[in-house]
Amino acid sequence: MHWKYSLLGLAQAAAVVLAVDSAVVDLSLSKGSPQHLASGFIYGIPDTYNQVQSHWYTDMGFRYNRAGGAQLEAPCRGWIWGYDEYLCRLHSTLSNYRTTREYGGSFIILPHDVWGTDHANDSTVWPGDDGDWTNYDLFVTTLLADMAEYDALDALVWDTWNEPDETVFWARSAQQWVDLFVRTSKIIRDNSKYDGVQITGPSLATAPSGTDDFWTLWLSQVEGNDTVPDQYSYHLEADVDSPDDDLQITNATLTALLAEYGLPARQVNINEYATFPEQFPAPAAWWISRLERYETLGLRGNWMDGLTLHDLFANLLTKIDDPYNYTATDYAAAPEWQVYRYYNTNMTGHRVNTTGTADRLFDVYATVDSDKVRILSGTRITEGTWAITVNGMTAVGLPAEGTVDIQTWGFAGTDHFAVTGAPSNRGIVAHTYANDTLVFPIYQTDTTTAWAFEFSRG
Ligand SMILES: *[C@@H]1O[C@H](CO)[C@@H](O)[C@H](O)[C@H]1NC(C)=O
Ligand SMILES: *[C@@H]1O[C@H](CO)[C@@H](O)[C@H](O)[C@H]1NC(C)=O
Ligand SMILES: *[C@@H]1O[C@H](CO)[C@@H](O)[C@H](O)[C@H]1NC(C)=O
Ligand SMILES: *[C@@H]1O[C@H](CO)[C@@H](O)[C@H](O)[C@H]1NC(C)=O
Ligand SMILES: *[C@@H]1O[C@H](CO)[C@@H](O)[C@H](O)[C@H]1NC(C)=O
Ligand SMILES: *[C@@H]1O[C@H](CO)[C@@H](O)[C@H](O)[C@H]1NC(C)=O
Ligand SMILES: *[C@@H]1O[C@H](CO)[C@@H](O)[C@H](O)[C@H]1NC(C)=O
Repeated sequence: MHWKYSLLGLAQAAAVVLAVDSAVVDLSLSKGSPQHLASGFIYGIPDTYNQVQSHWYTDMGFRYNRAGGAQLEAPCRGWIWGYDEYLCRLHSTLSNYRTTREYGGSFIILPHDVWGTDHANDSTVWPGDDGDWTNYDLFVTTLLADMAEYDALDALVWDTWNEPDETVFWARSAQQWVDLFVRTSKIIRDNSKYDGVQITGPSLATAPSGTDDFWTLWLSQVEGNDTVPDQYSYHLEADVDSPDDDLQITNATLTALLAEYGLPARQVNINEYATFPEQFPAPAAWWISRLERYETLGLRGNWMDGLTLHDLFANLLTKIDDPYNYTATDYAAAPEWQVYRYYNTNMTGHRVNTTGTADRLFDVYATVDSDKVRILSGTRITEGTWAITVNGMTAVGLPAEGTVDIQTWGFAGTDHFAVTGAPSNRGIVAHTYANDTLVFPIYQTDTTTAWAFEFSRG
């Protein structure tokens, strides 16, 4: 190796590529315009209107939020603590809704939080206890009517109940929750005033599974009741070693389950993705690559507590003095912010087809614009050596063989709260290629740095 690439911090070097596991970019196959499908997060927006300066929303291509007043204390604990405590959570929800709409996003309401599951336990009342739905029906109709009253039905997605397979969010049986799902969908669909409201579900913590009771009961009862949701949702926040914590696996599992249970295809929304240890630049690029490949919407998981849950864009942002000071407005970019900014602001033109490596640990997202080809790459918090194979060089006006100068940008950061500047310039390396295919190696010597590679088109 004639380049001391690791000392220079270069991810790629001009060298003969060994037979390593390669991610593939196909420049000849367009996937349409960028959708920034991964640019959502749950909570993360302060309840004080306009507290976060507008460029933080626009630069990341913000498009989805999901909230319902969780973690607020008395007198703001939700419906089961009385009407005033319900109203307090409603106003938190409405504030986040308005901010989301101001920046063109869609808003997923979390009724379980407006109900107050974070101040409940298995001794408190749950919807449908002893077969009595009176109180729950009043809750749903009141909340719907209030959202209508406050002009908050546009781009609204109703997420009937979050993670009923986690006992902190649902302390009753799987069937009682399916009853709730079917019942709520009918209440919404039976009133034409709410025709524009989308319904999402099942929002289970467990990835699609043919053996999990929550999944199978739900799959077997929604179609016959005419309550198939507008969006299928579930969460990918398991351990990174868990075999099904990967959209490549779960997209196929869900497709098979839908066929087995006779359900139609719908937009999928992973409305919580990535664990806290994965919230660094390299895994961010890996998740973006996956969500884009499967045309799947995604909202970043949010691992903060208390008021910080309602701040910091699920750790895309930090603050210069004290990130835990909720009222402070000295917002700054956290490490992953720079990845989302590049993804939205720089990766323009059209998306092209990509394939991740066979070991499922390294992946790429790529765009072609009138000036450049741009490839964002990341790993699943792991080190290793891979390659990127770019097919179809002639599709971007380059000769079938020749040399390209590849510019590398590095997105570094190992502390979720560190103020982080623009990606650093890691230099330009000339690569020769032949037969319409460029191959260059990736030396990933840490677990957190993401890379962007750019070269001019012909
Ligand atoms: C359940 O919550 C209620 C209301 O906050 C509280 O009074 C009760 O002590 C809790 N029960 C348990 C077992 O934690
Ligand atoms: C409709 O949903 C209920 C649960 O609320 C379930 O018991 C019933 O079997 C479902 N009907 C059909 C036809 O799937
Ligand atoms: C992903 O799932 C959708 C249905 O949910 C299916 O239409 C599509 O073919 C799947 N994609 C791949 C590449 O398996
Ligand atoms: C939090 O930030 C606000 C606004 O900058 C400031 O007035 C206040 O003193 C800070 N609170 C603490 C505990 O530092
Ligand atoms: C991304 O685009 C912005 C805005 O045009 C520009 O200032 C910045 O230099 C670009 N970053 C990279 C790494 O190309
Ligand atoms: C496009 O991407 C999909 C998913 O990675 C892959 O299965 C397919 O082979 C790719 N097609 C081409 C022509 O690159
Ligand atoms: C050139 O690419 C084609 C198709 O991708 C492949 O079949 C052929 O073996 C390649 N030729 C060489 C010399 O690598």
